[in-house]
Amino acid sequence: MQAFEYYSPTKLVFGLDCIKDKLSAEIKSRGYKKVLMTYGGGSIKRSGLYDLVQAELKQAGCTVFELSGIEPNPRVTSVDAGAAICKKEGIDLVLAVGGGSTMDASKAICAAACYDGASWDLVLDSSKITAALPLFTINTIAATGSEYDSAGVITNLETKEKLPIGSVLLWPQVSFLDPSLTYTVPANQTIAGTCDMMSHFFEAYFVRNLSPIAQGVIEAAERIAIANTPIALKDPTNYEARSKLLWASTLGCNGFATLGSSATIFPCHAIEHEVSAYYDITHGIGLAILTPRLLRFWLEKDPSVAPRYIDLACNIFGLKRENYGSEAELIEAGLKSLEDFYASLGVPSGLGKLGITNEHFKAMAEHIKTHWIASFDDCFVPMTTDDIVTVLERSL
Ligand code: NZQ
Ligand code: ZN
Repeated sequence: MQAFEYYSPTKLVFGLDCIKDKLSAEIKSRGYKKVLMTYGGGSIKRSGLYDLVQAELKQAGCTVFELSGIEPNPRVTSVDAGAAICKKEGIDLVLAVGGGSTMDASKAICAAACYDGASWDLVLDSSKITAALPLFTINTIAATGSEYDSAGVITNLETKEKLPIGSVLLWPQVSFLDPSLTYTVPANQTIAGTCDMMSHFFEAYFVRNLSPIAQGVIEAAERIAIANTPIALKDPTNYEARSKLLWASTLGCNGFATLGSSATIFPCHAIEHEVSAYYDITHGIGLAILTPRLLRFWLEKDPSVAPRYIDLACNIFGLKRENYGSEAELIEAGLKSLEDFYASLGVPSGLGKLGITNEHFKAMAEHIKTHWIASFDDCFVPMTTDDIVTVLERSL
């Protein structure tokens, strides 16, 4: 086991109808009075959540300001707009109601509201975050885990960059998780959410030293995602399936699944963020296309990592060693099971299907080298910029 420090100061409130009375009580007990409510393109109005939240804010005696229209792959322009409202109105709480994009933009708003300068500065250098407004979240989709981590991902269309912003000051203070709020998530976003959460756990699985406790958590989470996504797709209001997906996703991205292991450097995410920055694709879908290619590339480059692939086959997909003539056949069957699962969800077979060409692959790989949070030398199998280009080419 590797040494670690872990601090996760977010209060989680999970369960059916968990917002009613509890949201107002949490706000009142902390004395917040001026709230910026942030949300996306309107799903919360269609589902009725907007009205529920407004009633709670009224019950708490708050003055409410709103920022709507936060985009999937949230833009820095939305962050600037939110920060401007906070500064002008003296906001004392940001309440994010929506998916990862709304929560991420809101984290950046919390930081930018306390910073004299352009919010993009804080994305380029998060050490400049020295204060942030408090954040509550109401998560409406099982995907990113943003409701229980201290990071966000912001897109700058002008510079073609999609980069993380992170600070210990950005943990939400309280996050509400009502699985029934995810009933209305459309099939394509349910699928993308599953692919995203699975990727978070894979990023923590394919590391050099894997803690056996982390391994068990990750394998269970992957099995739960694989078993429950088809149920949620067939029966969108299935509470048990939606609740398992939501809770698994909440644990995926805040470091919990890596405790005792070597740190993950999120290589698949680094590559996907580059593709998203150029082509504005859905995050989870990009990850699902890239993941099997990345895994196959690592095994090819360093066959000594094979034991982890056997674990994938046996512990996640339930394959039995005795049914295969060799370890290589077992590993291949495991990888094929993963690819078949993504295909069964309707994930496109390659980036080319999304209109992507190899035109910018070299620039993407170079950008990772200079801008990602960690070095690709520390990947499960170390990767050069040429290796990144190869994985991208194979993902077309
Ligand atoms: O905008 P609205 O109208 O709310 O609709 C959204 C949006 O169109 C819809 N949606 C969400 N909840 C719904 C719903 N529709 C109906 N019913 C509901 N209950 O789904 C669409 C996608 O929403 P979005 O917030 O973009 O999805 P997601 O949660 O997958 O977030 C993706 C973003 O998070 C970043 C990604 O890169 C991407 O920008 N990530 C954030 C991370 C973090 N903070 O730790 C880690 C992740 O790896 C990821 O990078
Ligand atoms: Zn992700």
